Amino acid sequence: MKALVLSGGSGTRLRPFSYSMPKQLIPIANKPVLQHVLENISDLGVTEIGIIVGDRLPQISAVLGDGSELGVKITYIPQEKPLGLAHCVSLARPFLGNDDFVMYLGDNMLTGGVQRIAEEFAAGRPAAQIVVQKVADPCAFGVAELDAEGRVERLVEKPKEPRSDLALAGVYFFTPAIHAAVDAIEPSARGELEITDAIQWLVTEGADVRASEYDGYWKDTGRVEDVLECNRTLLDDLKPHAAGQVDENSTLVGPVVVEEGARVVRSRIVGPAVIATGTVITDSYIGPYTSIGKDCVLSDTHIEQSIVLDGATVSEVRGLHHSLIGRSAAVVPAENDTVHHRLVVGDHTRVEVAA
Ligand code: G1P
Repeated sequence: MKALVLSGGSGTRLRPFSYSMPKQLIPIANKPVLQHVLENISDLGVTEIGIIVGDRLPQISAVLGDGSELGVKITYIPQEKPLGLAHCVSLARPFLGNDDFVMYLGDNMLTGGVQRIAEEFAAGRPAAQIVVQKVADPCAFGVAELDAEGRVERLVEKPKEPRSDLALAGVYFFTPAIHAAVDAIEPSARGELEITDAIQWLVTEGADVRASEYDGYWKDTGRVEDVLECNRTLLDDLKPHAAGQVDENSTLVGPVVVEEGARVVRSRIVGPAVIATGTVITDSYIGPYTSIGKDCVLSDTHIEQSIVLDGATVSEVRGLHHSLIGRSAAVVPAENDTVHHRLVVGDHTRVEVAA
């Protein structure tokens, strides 16, 4: 079996971060979403992985390389325009050949892994096996209607009036039967070749299409709230490890990771929290569910339930929570001014101040 990871798309819901980085590289528990995805795939014993990339190929390949560090072999497959998930399958045809494959959306996190579902697919080899989960807002997803045996009867992409609450989580298992389906469908109203329509074509043709309900934690990390929630969930399993320098005037409470090369001075860190290498924390409080990236400087700051990306500076700002602070961003006090705020914020940035 091979794997196809979809990592194109513009990530408009994750602006301003997606202006400068592919959304799939946003760190969750200090590791890019795509790396979590590849580790999940490698846990299935799959090593040949094709990744569909748009114009962000240089940034993605700078992080993942040829995959050897993760024990896999990556083939990058460029896509000029985001023309839909089924379009990705047809672009990948030369890579996929006539092999079965798992297709994984590169911004989806299924933290428990999909081993059991991969085994079900391998045992029954239906034309397609989709992964579904009950959601409160099915309108935002592809939605599946099943019969009593778990066979798929109908699939609709983002229905206005959903007839089921089972959403398609972003993982699909296919035999080569999917290629005829992808060739047969037409673009949807939004101008994309939808994988949902291709699978529906298989159902209509009488092919065996099955669904497995995923009972673990699943998140499409499309929005800032999703990224923060996913970060909290991953940090819940954090194993404490303090390899960096923690001075005698600092305390670490609960599961805290201080990576080698990080420094904690006169500060209190209440886990779960992770501090990456090169970062210096001074006179600060870092509260639960916080991930601080590499080479950050935090001083005289209180922050919790947040993610700070590499190279950011935060000083003399207390009461920060549920925040996502971008690479090399600076959140600092105004110079010689205790009355006015001065903001230099990029497009589509959101600043919420305590008024
Ligand atoms: C895509 C699929 C949808 C699926 C979702 C899962 O939607 O089209 O069927 O439920 O991923 O995250 P998108 O996130 O591209 O809107």
